[in-house]
Order: sequence, then C-alpha cells, then structure tokens
Amino acid sequence: MDKIEGKKLVFAINGERFELSSIEPSTTLLEFLRYQTRFRSAKLGCGEGGCGACVVLLSKYDPVLDQVEDFTISSCLTLLCSLNGCSITTSEGLGNSKDGFHPIHQRFAGFHASQCGFCTPGMCMSLFSALCNSEKTSMPEPPPGFAKLTISEAEKAIAGNLCRCTGYRPIADACKSFAADVDLEDLGLNSFWGKGENECASKLPFYCRRDDICTFPEFLKREIKNKILFNSEEYSWYTPVSVEELQSLLGSEEADYGTRVKLVVGNTGMGYYKELGHCNKYIDIRHIPELSIIRRDSTGIEIGAAVSISRAIQALMEESKGRPQSYEGVVFKKIADHMDKIGSKFIRNTASLGGNLVMAQRNQFPSDIATILLAAGALVDLQIGTKRIKLTLEEFLESPPFDFKIILLTARIPILEQTIDVSSKIQSRLLFETYRAAPRPLGNALPYLNAAFFAQVSTYKDCDGVILEGLRLAFGAYGTKHAIRARKVEEFLNGKLLSLGLLFEAIKLLRGIIVPEDHVSHPAYRSSLAVSFLLDFLGPLVDNSGMDGYVNGPQIDAKVENNSDKFYDAMRPSFLSSAKQVVEVAKKYHPVGEPIKKAGAEIQASGEAVYVDDIPSPKDCLYGAFIYSTRPLARVKGITFKSSSPPDGVVGVITVKEIPKGGDNVGARSIFGDEPLFADNLTRYAGQPIGFVVADTQKHANMAADCAVVEYDTENLEPPVLTVEEAVKKSSFFQIPPFLNPKQIGNFSKGMAESDHKILSAEIRLGSQYYFYLETQTAFAVPDEDNCIVVYSSSQCPENAQIVIAKCLGIPHHNVRVITRRVGGGFGGKAIRSLPVATACALAAHNLQRPVRIYLDRKTDMIMAGGRHPMKINFSVGFKSNGIITALHLDILINAGISEDVSPVIPYNMIGPLKKYNWGALSVDMKVCRTNHTSKSAMRAPGEVQGSYIAEAVIEHVASTLSMEVDSVREKNLHTFESLKVFYEGASGEAFEYTLPYVMDRLVSSSNFHQRVEVIRQFNCCNKWKKRGISRIPIVHPVMVRPTPGKVSILNDGSVVVEVGGIELGQGLWTKVKQMAAFSLGQVLLDGSNNLLERVRVIQADTLSLIQGGFTSGSTTSESSCEAVRLCCNALVERLIPLKERLQEQMGTVSWDMLILQAHLQAVNLSSSAFYVPDITSAHYLNYGAAVSEVEIDLLTGATMILRTDIIYDCGQSLNPAVDLGQIEGAFVQGIGFFMLEEYLTNSDGLVVSEGTWTYKIPTIDTIPKQFNVEILNSGHHQRRVLSSKASGEPPLLLAVSVHCATRAAIKEARKQVLAWNGSDASNSTFQLEVPATMPVVKELCGLDNVESYLQSLLSNRQKLSLS
Ligand SMILES: Cc1cc2nc3c(=O)[nH]c(=O)nc-3n(C[C@H](O)[C@H](O)[C@H](O)COP(=O)(O)OP(=O)(O)OC[C@H]3O[C@@H](n4cnc5c(N)ncnc54)[C@H](O)[C@@H]3O)c2cc1C
Ligand code: FES
Ligand code: FES
Repeated sequence: MDKIEGKKLVFAINGERFELSSIEPSTTLLEFLRYQTRFRSAKLGCGEGGCGACVVLLSKYDPVLDQVEDFTISSCLTLLCSLNGCSITTSEGLGNSKDGFHPIHQRFAGFHASQCGFCTPGMCMSLFSALCNSEKTSMPEPPPGFAKLTISEAEKAIAGNLCRCTGYRPIADACKSFAADVDLEDLGLNSFWGKGENECASKLPFYCRRDDICTFPEFLKREIKNKILFNSEEYSWYTPVSVEELQSLLGSEEADYGTRVKLVVGNTGMGYYKELGHCNKYIDIRHIPELSIIRRDSTGIEIGAAVSISRAIQALMEESKGRPQSYEGVVFKKIADHMDKIGSKFIRNTASLGGNLVMAQRNQFPSDIATILLAAGALVDLQIGTKRIKLTLEEFLESPPFDFKIILLTARIPILEQTIDVSSKIQSRLLFETYRAAPRPLGNALPYLNAAFFAQVSTYKDCDGVILEGLRLAFGAYGTKHAIRARKVEEFLNGKLLSLGLLFEAIKLLRGIIVPEDHVSHPAYRSSLAVSFLLDFLGPLVDNSGMDGYVNGPQIDAKVENNSDKFYDAMRPSFLSSAKQVVEVAKKYHPVGEPIKKAGAEIQASGEAVYVDDIPSPKDCLYGAFIYSTRPLARVKGITFKSSSPPDGVVGVITVKEIPKGGDNVGARSIFGDEPLFADNLTRYAGQPIGFVVADTQKHANMAADCAVVEYDTENLEPPVLTVEEAVKKSSFFQIPPFLNPKQIGNFSKGMAESDHKILSAEIRLGSQYYFYLETQTAFAVPDEDNCIVVYSSSQCPENAQIVIAKCLGIPHHNVRVITRRVGGGFGGKAIRSLPVATACALAAHNLQRPVRIYLDRKTDMIMAGGRHPMKINFSVGFKSNGIITALHLDILINAGISEDVSPVIPYNMIGPLKKYNWGALSVDMKVCRTNHTSKSAMRAPGEVQGSYIAEAVIEHVASTLSMEVDSVREKNLHTFESLKVFYEGASGEAFEYTLPYVMDRLVSSSNFHQRVEVIRQFNCCNKWKKRGISRIPIVHPVMVRPTPGKVSILNDGSVVVEVGGIELGQGLWTKVKQMAAFSLGQVLLDGSNNLLERVRVIQADTLSLIQGGFTSGSTTSESSCEAVRLCCNALVERLIPLKERLQEQMGTVSWDMLILQAHLQAVNLSSSAFYVPDITSAHYLNYGAAVSEVEIDLLTGATMILRTDIIYDCGQSLNPAVDLGQIEGAFVQGIGFFMLEEYLTNSDGLVVSEGTWTYKIPTIDTIPKQFNVEILNSGHHQRRVLSSKASGEPPLLLAVSVHCATRAAIKEARKQVLAWNGSDASNSTFQLEVPATMPVVKELCGLDNVESYLQSLLSNRQKLSLS
C-alpha cells in the first residue's frame, strides 16, 4: 500500500469540517466534542464503555466501493486521532430546535421515553444507527414511515444503553414504533393518539428513510479519494501500513520504555484498564492489511487481529448461513452468537478480536473470545521480532505475558476433520456449544464463568450409548489467569462410553479443577456453574443412546426442559418485552389530568438541553477533583504525588487549611447538623474528601487526584467502627428526635401471649444501593463582583447549597447565588450529597478568584456518594394457627455512616410502609448507628423500601412456618379501615380513600392470579431445571406535603414565566407545573378557548430569585409546587377579572393577549408569588398500590427472568398520567435493581469496591419484566389533595419486592426438589433470601451442588431398580 501521510487530522462532525494541526493523542472523541465544539449531546456517564450516554455514529467512506459504513461507537473510549477522514453524527446532528427535530427525537418525546434526559441522546443514536443499517439490508420494503427493522431488532438496538429513570418500557416503544412489523396497537401510552382512538401510522412523526440524514458529507468524500493517513511524529501518532513498518517503529523503542508505547485498535481496553496517562507513541495498527483480513478456505476461517468483533460476527454469520446444517456452520453461528453478548453493540463495533486476545494473554482479562476459540481449537499467528510464529491458542494463552513488541497477526478457527476411525461406528457427530452466565442476558456484563465445549460423539455397532472423543472443554473468566482446558476431565471422558456414573465422576473431577483464584467473588458459585454447563452439554447424551436430534449440535435447552408447558409457551411474548397501560384521562381541570408530553423532551433527545456540565467554560476556567481517604480512621499526615514533579496542569490542592478566615469547614448540612467538607487532621471514613486538586483541565485534575498519595498514621487510634454490632458495643448512635421515633401500637406482650406460634429473634440483613444517576455530581462556580459567587449545581436542594457555601466561605447568604436548571437524575443522591461538591468548587473559585468546575468521574462518585442505608433487623412475631398475626417486635440497627445527614428520619420512614399489615401489636426499637463509613443518605423511598420489605419477610416467615400459602397470610393480615386508623393515626383519611383491598382484588382478576398459580404448579411439577414463582404484594406508603414557594409572572406578550421551589430531576415536575399554570390562569377566560400550555415556561431555580425552595424529595414536590403555582395564578386571576369584565363590556370578547396588554397598560401587577403551606389535615396521606410478579429461575445458573409484572397504583386523580406512569415504571425497575441485581460492595476498610459499570449492574432492557402491565387507578375525588392527585415518585419502588418474593417462591420449589433428590424431608424449607437476590445467591439456595444431588439420586434409583 502506498502511504500518503497527512500531518493534519481532518474529519467531520454533523457535516462540519474540522481540521486539527495540534492535538494531544490521548484525547478522546468525547473530550473533544464536549470541550472543543458546540456539540454537547454526547454525555459522559461512565467513561468506561458501560453506559451508552456517549454514543455517537461513526461513518466511514470507502472510495473504491463508493460505500458509506455507519456504526455506533462509545465516544468516551475512541481516540480522536483514529478518526482521520471519518464523519461523526451526534444527536443534535439528526435534528434540533432550530432546524426541526428528527422523528426519533419526536417519537422519544411522544412516547414519554425521556425523563431526566441524560441517557436520551445516546439512546437516539443507538436507534438511529439501527435504522441506517437496516436500510442496507435486503429485507422487504417496509410500509411508508417505517424502517426495515423488526421489533426485536429495534428493541435490541438500545440493549447496551443504560437508563436509570424510565424503566425502559417507553424507550422500547419509541424504538419499536419504527419497526416494519410493529402492531401499533401494542405500543404504549403516547401523545400521538389518545386512548380508544384509532392508532394509525399517519399520526406518528413521519420517518422518511431517503430524506434522512447524510451521515458522510460530500466534501469529505472528495477529500479522502486519495486515502491520506494521519501520521504525525509531532503528535506521536503513527499509522504503519505494513507489519515491517510496524516492526521498525517498535524496534526503535527501548524495551523498558514499552509501557509508554501503545498499539491501538479500538482503544476499548482503556474502559477496563483506565490508563489515564498518555503514552509517548500511539501506533494505530488498523491500516495494516494483514491485520484486517477475513480469509476463508477449506481448512477454516482466518480473522485478522484488528478486525472488529462486529465484523467478525458478521463474517461468521455469513459463513454459517451458507451451510447451516454442517458442523462448521453450527460452530460459526454459535461463536457469533456468543460474541454478540460481548460488551454492547457500540463496543463491539470498534473492539478488535486481537485486542481482546492480547488483553487476555497479557493482562488476565476475563475474555469470552479466548474461551470459545480455545474450544474451537483456534490457532494464532504472531510476529516476534523478524519471526512469524504459529501457536495454538492454548500455547498462546499459557505463554508468559508477551511484551509490547509482540504482534498478534491473526486468529484461525479451523474446520475439524473427524479424527477417529469410522469403520465400526454407526454414526458420528461433532458437537460444539458455548455458555456464559452473566447478570444481563443480552450482554454488557462480564460473565461469572464462560465455557465452550467440543466433542466428537459416536455410537458403535455393539454398544448401547455414545462414546466421546476428541473432547475440548474450555472454561474461562471465573477468576483464573486465562481460559483453560479441563484436560483431566477430557482425558477421563475420552474414549469411554458415556453413562450416568461416568458423568458423575467427571463432574466431581471438574469441581476440583475449576477453582477461582483467591479474592475472586463467589468462588463456589463459579465452580458450580462449570458443573452445570457440563451437565447441560453431556446430560442429554446420557439418556439418548441414539444420535437423533444432534444433527445441528445438541438442542440442549429443548432437551433439558422438554416438558415445558404449552400454555406458557403460548403466553411467552414472541419478542423481548410487551406491555399494557391502563390510565384514565380526566378532563375536568384541562389541561391538568392529561398525558401531556414532558416539557423539553425533544431538546433532551436532541441533546440541546443544558445540564451543568454543558455550560461552556469561560477562558480561564479551572477544574477540580477530589482526593479522598482510603482509610476509615487515620491521621492525615500529608498529601504528595506519585511523581517527583507536580502532575501536568495542576494549579493547587485545596484542603481544610485553605478555608478562609471567617468560614467554617462545612460541606453539607441537614436539620440534624453539619458535616465537614474536608477531613481535618483525622480522616473518619474511607471516601472522605481530604483535598480538592485544581488543574487546567478535568482530565489533568482527575489524573492528579489519581496519583495523589496520602500519608496516614493510625498509631494509638482506636479501631474504627465498621459494623452496627461494633456501634452497639461502643454506644455509637445518633439521637432520634422523639417526634421521629416510632410509637408502640397495642400491647406486644399481650399480643404474644395470645399467639399460637412464635418466631423469636429471626434475623434479616439489608445492604446499600447506589443512586446511579447517569449524570454524576457536578458543579460550576464563578466568582462575581463584591465578594459574591454564582454556583451552578446539579442539586436537589440549591437552597441548602447556598447556606453551606456561604457558611464555608464566611460570607452572607445573599452573596451566594445557586442556580439549578435541570438535574440528570437525582433519586435522593443529589440532595445532601451534592453539597460537598458544590461547596468545594465554590471554595476553590473563591480562593483562586477564577471559575472552577467539577464533574465527578464515576468511580469517585460511587466511592463518595454514600447511598441507601444498610441495616440489621431482628424480629419476633406471634401468630395464630390460621395465619393471623398478633404481635410483632423489631430491633433494627441502621448503619448511618459518619454523619447524621437525614438518617434520624429513617426510623420514621421505615415504620410507615411496615405498618401496611395489621400486626395486632407492634413495638419497635431502632438505633441509628454512627459508623466509620460514608454518610448514608436518602435514596428513592429511603427507609420505606426497607420497611416494606421487612413486613414481607415477616409474612413469608410466618407462612413458611405454618406451611400456608403466603398469599392467604398476606390477605388475612391486611388492614380493615378500622385497624388502618389505629396504625396510621391522622393520615388514614376517609374510609372510601382506603382503596387497597379493592386494588388487591382487582389485581387478582386483572392478572389472572389464581389461574396462573395453578399453571405454575403444573410447570414446576414437570420441569427439573426451571422453576417458577408468583407473588402478590400490597403497599401502603405515607407521604408528607411540605411548604413550597412559587412565583408566576405574565409578560407583555402574554407569555408566562413560572418559578417553583422544586427542581426538575426528570420526574416531570415542570410539566405538571405548566399544566397547573395553564389551568389556573385559564380560569380568567372561562370559555376555555385559550390553551395557555404553550405560553408557559418554567425556568431554572435561582436561590436569589425564589427563596425557601427547600428539598425536592419525598414524592410530593410536584404537587406542592403545583399548589404554590395555583395560589399565584389565583391571585393573578383575581387581579385580572375586573379588567376582563370591563373589556368584555366594551369589546364583547377578550383574548388572552389583549387582556394582558391592557393589564400592562393599566399597571396591573402581573407577578405574583406564594408560599404554599399545607394545613395539618392535608399534610400527611397514604398511597396504595399492589403488584403481582411472576419469575422463572434457572437452577443450573441461578438466573432469574421476570416473566410478568402487573401493577395497580392509586394516583388519586393523576395530574398527568403519562408522567405518573413513567414514575411508576421507573421506580419499579429501580426497585428491581435493589432487590435483584445491585451489589454495592466495600472492602474491609469500608471503601466502596463496586466502583463502576463493570461491577455495579443496574437493570437493563433485558432484565425488566418480559410483560409489564401497569394500571393507574383513578380513585376520584380527594378533597384534601392537590386537585385530587396523589404521589407517584417513590411508593411504586416498594412494589418491586414482589419480584423478590416470587423468586423466593420459585426457590422454595427448587429446594423441595433438591431435598427430595437428597432423600431429606421436603417440608423443611425455611430459608432467607438475601437482597439483592443475584445469580450466585439464588443458585446457592437452589443448591450449589444440585447437579451432583440430581445425578446421585438417579444413580441410586437405578441401583435400587437393578436390585429389585
Ligand atoms: C464495556 C466493555 C464491555 C466488554 N465486555 C466484554 C465481555 O463481556 N467479554 C469479553 O470477552 N470482552 C469484553 N470486553 C473487552 C473487549 O472485547 C476488548 O476491550 C476489545 O476487544 C479490545 O479491542 P480493542 O481493539 O479496543 O483493543 P485496544 O484497546 O486498542 O488494545 C488493547 C490492548 O491490546 C494491545 N493490542 C491490540 N491489538 C494488538 C495486536 N494485534 N498485537 C499486539 N497487541 C495488540 C494494545 O496495545 C492494548 O494494550 C468489553 C470491553 C468493554 C469496553
Ligand atoms: S460514557 Fe461512554 S459508555 Fe458510558
Ligand atoms: S431518562 Fe434515562 S437516565 Fe434519566
């Protein structure tokens, strides 16, 4: 290849040409987009390839074929220098508010698929890429307005993108609305057609494929007709075009210099290894033809090391399509299917096969590719110095880690010949299968263990059964240096007649081999997976002496689960998810009560919505990063940096010593007290800020914080308090004010005396949960004149930020203006926990008199954030033989961490939902423990979710003790209205408002509960390795309405500006407020002809404009903000009515515009503010709902699939059913995360070790219920509520316990079976199911050795039969 070198980097973004002659080569595309262009739609959510917030479209042009290739990439990992001659499209490039939105944006808005909006541009780009590429397929032409995409492809398009707000269902609907095979009737609530209306394609924003975006501009095509490679010694970026050239580049490097030279393909390895620093030399090896080939011949397929995983999948699929029945066809397809679960589409599109294998070889990366290719007998070609060497993959992996000069050229998957003599055989087949057990079925999660097996299976003339030969049993990713072959097991099985006994022995052998290294989580579980997979592979061969059914490789699933129920098969949705929403639209207070789409949803989708980090930096801006403690209790002796010279760009480090005179070391406050900003001479928990390093860029600040070394000293210090038990020993508690201390109800001793049975001192433990808002904590502080400061903060309580900043800087409150426009997800984490971030930033800006901003990297955010309160619960309960509970006592130790925060409220919060059942008598002793951990804070339904869970755990325990159906125990203990009044004194409302019994009954019929219970029973009888469970759960969730301010101003042209105390976090507050303003102001023109909705704008919170904003929390801020606005509007209406009447007399009719113009002329005061203070009778009320969930667990892997969830939730009269539906679904899915997935782990010092997307797994589209039905009950008139509405933000999260309880029910069935296999008493099956019920937890309860138990039982049955 002739190489034409260019010293300038040329590329296009959204059709604009960029030419750079100076660039730091470690710059990522995302850094460039966000800091050096006006295109800020791509967001930083994780910086490690795990969230999709940064996804953009990359287009490449092939001048020879005149073809454009379009695919998504994660811009946070893609190096800018690798984009020479490429075109980038971001969400604002698809459309925007100026040029018109793209139908994707419009449909995301119309399907209510954007809440906080931080994930939305990335989602839109993932979908856009799928649409673009569908056009290039040979699928039949779709109807006008649709794409050549199937619904499951449309849904899969966003499989790797995380959303923490919506629960994914509406996003899936927006995507599916483009699919050619969509039935529009299946799509959910949207703003295009109303309930009962004929849904028709013409109402959807029209999608025209041909007019769609030009992803590759003509000027760039012309420019790159002669391929010019960006190759710049000056910028240390090299693009060799031959192996020889690459060698000479590497040859010139000293060996010990190796770490500073980097071969680059997709650079996705950075997502795992986080090499923050830059190298001296980047060598882009994608332009070496040999590394990019895919060559197929009669002996196999050879794939160049630089080929992307996506391209490899495509090639393997094509090869397989040509010969679907052949062995190699099956192998290629299985390898491709397995690879399709690596990372996400936007990772696979640039991640190379070679990069993966090199990471596995050199850095012990838990690779899938290494394992599956090992079983496929792959070979690799290497360039070592001047030599080319061919190794088996096994030799490659087992070699000592290669140095940076060794180049992986290709990997070859051979086509296997049968190796043994066939003369005496009846039949012989080659089998190949791959496995992975990971928390997310569709990918974007490393496996706990992966495996791939190859075997030649033969039947011989004179023997009954099959003989295995040539076995290759590969296992990897379980905490081993690299993928291995279980040689001993292979040798043991090879050439032998497969029998139950043989399989049993092989499995025992395997257990001794698959042993994870020390410090790997869930070691026993990982070993058990190996056993499960081997059973899955070989089990069906044992029972089948013939070879039928193995033509295309083993149909293992079908064989293991050959009795699956027909009814269920019919019920199982044919695509990933389906859903139904039932909502009632109330017109009485038009437009309140209508499912208006979210205010600003389109600009959120296009990426124009401005979050704190999107505000452009002024020229002299500096950036901060926290240096935090890694010790729980130690003296801080000093901070230095790893390198001798200060890191690049560092301006200074701010510590407690830099707090100005007159200021205090305060970083957060709540009504219970203050919290220090920085550790003083003593650090009191791992994660405590010790310093704030300030540098010229965010990257430099992060790098500096990363290489900061804190010197600690623990001499003569008491050991830290790290557990609640230690806190009890040392009486380390926070005071609970008497008004928050739960009151005793009834007489516990009497209740116990009346009981027939007692459970004494049963223990439950609950862990923490991290917020995982997509936008991490961020602030931007700008010093202003006269000792003032303006701080933009992503905060749920700007008023508190103002107070804390003023106190820290020692200036009056009116010198501090805190502005919050929107928050990219809060969930409680941006209330108190946002304050230290804003304060540190303000302090740095104040001291340095320069603007300072910070956007926390995900790891620091996770380490510092705190999260939900862990706790230990002991309960004693008395109950009658019929299941009626007579008394409950709880001892609860709440781990609050180091400072009060809002922890003293937790007991009060917990007791509310816990009282959902009539416990007879209830007594509680709660202690809020002060420990040396990060301060725990409010997280969506703080305390409430634990309280509700504890109630269910008690009920489950009682039912299990009595061997009763748990649903009937629930029902028996539900409150009557009389008992409700006793338990919820002052909040129970009127009898007709107690809708829970009705909701529970209605759910039984709407979910077909009883019929399904029976079907599940049958299913469980005839399925060994899959069990199902179902559960129906009620909730009662008290909330409190708090005082809130509002201000409404009508401008000259009739447009309206509204300010409220509440912050828009994605919960739809602005939308409801707009509706309320339009309704209330509309009262002035009683004919209702003027729809004012479009005339209302809600603006950012500004602490100097509207005071007493308080907290946005507790689910009621929307309604109280609405009420405050209503009061303002009422005052305005009162002022306008006399004028309107006068004008009406003079002119007949009066329009809004005319009225306002005249009002201005006649000096009517058109601005009104109000402070809504709920009266005592309306401040507290109860919310009701119920859910039925059904799950299926896999006894071999511990995986839980949520088959279906039905929810009914009472919203009073919803202010906006679309918004409330979004809150219900989103909260429920966040609850699934808490109960099923999210492991928030710390090390022994309390330092958080689940510190990113690799280890912390929030729900994705493939982990939500397959069928998700939600009904919003419109329970009519509630006099004391805001226009009869009730809250929806937090209570539905509690309903997710239904999934946990259903899992418990399924596990119970599994345990019965295992006990029967073991010959034990099947009735004794009391157990605790931990939260979260992750795969290892479920599997452990189903028996880590259940495979052995099963085989053993079969063997002994056979023995018995042969003896009889
Ligand atoms: C979010 C995410 C999820 C992932 N999930 C999975 C998963 O589930 N399973 C799985 O198996 N993998 C997974 N991966 C790993 C992914 O497959 C690898 O990151 C990727 O294949 C590396 O390829 P790359 O081209 O980006 O390599 P780069 O990052 O460019 O390079 C990686 C390393 O290999 C070296 N290198 C690259 N090519 C060569 C070569 N030809 N010769 C010598 N050295 C070379 C580089 O110098 C560098 O040190 C995931 C990655 C991400 C980011
Ligand atoms: S920010 Fe790039 S994937 Fe998360
Ligand atoms: S809308 Fe998806 S993260 Fe908030």
